[in-house]
Amino acid sequence: MIDRNLLLFVSGIITLLTSCQAQPASDKANQQKAPARSQQPVGGGCEGCELMYVAMPNEITPEHRSIGWTEGTQKLIVTGRVFQRDGKTPAPGVIIYYWHTDENGLYSSNSLTPANARQHGKHRGWVKSDKDGNYTMKTVRPGAYPNDVIPQHIHLSIKEPDIPQEYYADLYFEDDPLYAGHVKKYGKADRAGNELLRVRREGGVQIAEHAVILGLNIPNYPDK
Ligand SMILES: [Fe+2]
Repeated sequence: MIDRNLLLFVSGIITLLTSCQAQPASDKANQQKAPARSQQPVGGGCEGCELMYVAMPNEITPEHRSIGWTEGTQKLIVTGRVFQRDGKTPAPGVIIYYWHTDENGLYSSNSLTPANARQHGKHRGWVKSDKDGNYTMKTVRPGAYPNDVIPQHIHLSIKEPDIPQEYYADLYFEDDPLYAGHVKKYGKADRAGNELLRVRREGGVQIAEHAVILGLNIPNYPDK
């Protein structure tokens, strides 16, 4: 008799616990919506970013020299560290693909530029942040598009090891007179870091230090 009462008591407890774990209908509805949210492209999409995979080398190092470094007039080094969203934790293994115009503002190609990546021109390359997040791009300073008000810029496509999609960021130059009009019209986007490069000059080379902050101002950036 006692055993049967004990059995009923335990059975009641189990039923209670099970019902507490059941989800209300509203929670179930939210769960069903979750995949739709995750399908939103990280960074809002990026036309042309997929070209980062065209002729991408198997081995990517923390430093890269574009063809502009040797054949251009104004050498430019963009260097710094890649950080996680907190702006402090170094982020290793992040691939940053860069592409920009030549000194005349054109996406000029050469015979080494793959036909399906010609829209990015010949000044393109890849770096992968080292264990401390360091990276260095050695290239030529791009010119502004001819007969246009768009300032000089460098496009970046950022591919993190633990996010399936790449997302873009654009860099401009503080000493470019066209930038003021651009920021007045579009605002300062600061995608994945300060969009403005401040160059210092050393022996004829322009050097810009730039911190990449993963996910900063990147729509649909996932929680990690
Ligand atoms: Fe461009």
